[in-house]
Amino acid sequence: MNFFILFLLLFSHSLCKSIRHSEIDSCDDTVNGIGIEWDGEDDKINSKFYKCYLKLPKTKLNYVNESCFSIDVPYHYCVSKKIIYSSSVPTSGSHRPNWPVYGEYLYCPPQRWLHALEHGAVVFLYDPCADEYEIEIFRSIAQKCLRRFILTPHSSLENDSLFTIVTYGCKLELTNLIGNEKIVTDYIKVSLQN
Ligand SMILES: *[C@@H]1O[C@H](CO)[C@@H](O)[C@H](O)[C@H]1NC(C)=O
Ligand SMILES: *[C@@H]1O[C@H](CO)[C@@H](O)[C@H](O)[C@H]1NC(C)=O
Repeated sequence: MNFFILFLLLFSHSLCKSIRHSEIDSCDDTVNGIGIEWDGEDDKINSKFYKCYLKLPKTKLNYVNESCFSIDVPYHYCVSKKIIYSSSVPTSGSHRPNWPVYGEYLYCPPQRWLHALEHGAVVFLYDPCADEYEIEIFRSIAQKCLRRFILTPHSSLENDSLFTIVTYGCKLELTNLIGNEKIVTDYIKVSLQN
């Protein structure tokens, strides 16, 4: 990894602590107790969520799948309660009272970004082992297409996809970004119209 990218990763992105909306400050100040989202007792992030430890060869070639799901009731839970989802990439469901400031994160958990989806944001997830050049394209699509986006690595994408774009109730999974840029931008355009 070159030094500049390392610098960016270390200093320009944060954990998902930024407040967008403050509803019940005493139960979710977005700083204390959020380690619960990454199995931590304290607020230290477990790097398995955002670092690449084992790069496996691609098992599927150019897999692209768009799917929508029924909406799960979005209860708000304080950080004292663990929220578990039936999918590692949920598209709706319970979440924290506060949602993240839009932008890129070193790591942002579903418990936070699900709330942003409810408010019309688009979430861009990439496998930390994905090709750096493809991640760069992914990032530029997010930045150019819309203001309300969350971009974060997510080490447990489904169906061997390396990129997943999540909108409220739906997701687009891809193993390859290059060659599928138009599918991605069309998906975002349609989701913005809804
Ligand atoms: C697309 O994803 C859905 C939900 O995960 C799955 O049920 C379906 O089998 C997938 N379709 C294809 C063609 O892989
Ligand atoms: C995609 O992943 C979901 C969740 O793991 C699974 O239910 C579904 O069957 C998978 N689809 C395919 C086509 O493998």
